[in-house]
Amino acid sequence: MKIFFLLITCPILMFGQPLKKTGLAPLPPMGWNSWNTFRCGGLNESLVREIADSMVSNGMRDAGYVYVNLDDCWQIGRDENGNILVDSVKFPSGIKALADYVHGKGLKLGIYSDAGLMTCQKRPGSFGYEELDAKTYAEWEVDYLKYDFCFLPKRLEQEPEESRTSSFLRTYLRGPKHYAAVELYTPMAKALAAQERDIVFSICNWGVEEPWKWAGELGQLWRTTGDIRPYFKGFKLKYIGFFSIMKIVNRAHKQQLHLYAGPGRWNDPDMLEVGNGKLTLDENKAHFSMWAMMAAPLLAGNDLSVMPAEILNILTNKKVIAINQDSLGKQGYKADTYHKVQVWVKPLSDNRMAVCFLNPKKKKKFNYDWQRLKLPSEFHAEELWDGSYVSTTLFLQTEIAKHGVKLYLMEK
Ligand code: GAL
Repeated sequence: MKIFFLLITCPILMFGQPLKKTGLAPLPPMGWNSWNTFRCGGLNESLVREIADSMVSNGMRDAGYVYVNLDDCWQIGRDENGNILVDSVKFPSGIKALADYVHGKGLKLGIYSDAGLMTCQKRPGSFGYEELDAKTYAEWEVDYLKYDFCFLPKRLEQEPEESRTSSFLRTYLRGPKHYAAVELYTPMAKALAAQERDIVFSICNWGVEEPWKWAGELGQLWRTTGDIRPYFKGFKLKYIGFFSIMKIVNRAHKQQLHLYAGPGRWNDPDMLEVGNGKLTLDENKAHFSMWAMMAAPLLAGNDLSVMPAEILNILTNKKVIAINQDSLGKQGYKADTYHKVQVWVKPLSDNRMAVCFLNPKKKKKFNYDWQRLKLPSEFHAEELWDGSYVSTTLFLQTEIAKHGVKLYLMEK
């Protein structure tokens, strides 16, 4: 009994208030977010309703996509009491009415704010308003908050060391003038945890200050890179600073990000670009397969109301989704590279695993000795895009498309 009491009170004693509720996002969150297609100008309440309707009618909700997430630009200012004001031209019915609509469809509503003074699109940020904003979101019955990292405040004066109560915070301070990222995210984490409503906290600080090392104490997911763009690899200079699919995948390997993920704490390599830009069908499949392998949140970023059937088929491939949503909650890692093909392995429940061969180069014939993976026993493997079966007793003999994958579910 005493031990139980200590376990419960320890985090509260250290930080005064709990930093995070347990049990939220036991699996990577799935849903849709407005940013990748609609940016600032295209977001409004009729779009969001239309997207929610599409998610129901096209089978996405039943495939597991539940969050309908508003990104930047739903907010316009604050009133004299500091309450956040909704852009009433774009959202004439308000956010609560939208939440009711979305909930009525069996979906959940996500919202967006920023740890700094302003959001990246210069709407009011939550710095200094964390408690008020968290309370407002809870009153509106919001289920998810993405919290960005633009327009950060500087410290006015250096605080005396003793006023910083926890060594956890002190560890991540980067200098007297700046707030450490963890300091800017902590007040909102506490404010959300204090609400009766469960609100998933998505930490969007672009991988700055290695969030995989601290953000799991505060929220359920954290961005690992800058913004994704719908390019498979290398793109024009004007997009420097943005991330292609391969750049994100290679970063996950370099940072060994699989070591930090697990139920309720996910690396977020950014929202999906499936169906966006000029990605080929093979690139879209490879992108979706790798996000499944990386146990990434699956947040579609395309216009769901005008989606071609072949894109819907990718987003709703139940077997690929099951790799992502496996109850073990392990993130895949790169286990081998052979003739420039990357071989990723994701341990799954019931002694199964997924193996993904990712070809960043031209189409090629590919022969592979499964024993390179030091498999504990023989496996039967089903390729999840073409439905073919192989056994690991024989060499794999296949062909992989340019920028394509072969994704195997391996069972004994
Ligand atoms: C970026 C963020 C994007 C999007 C955008 C909105 O900082 O990484 O995902 O939210 O801000 O302004």
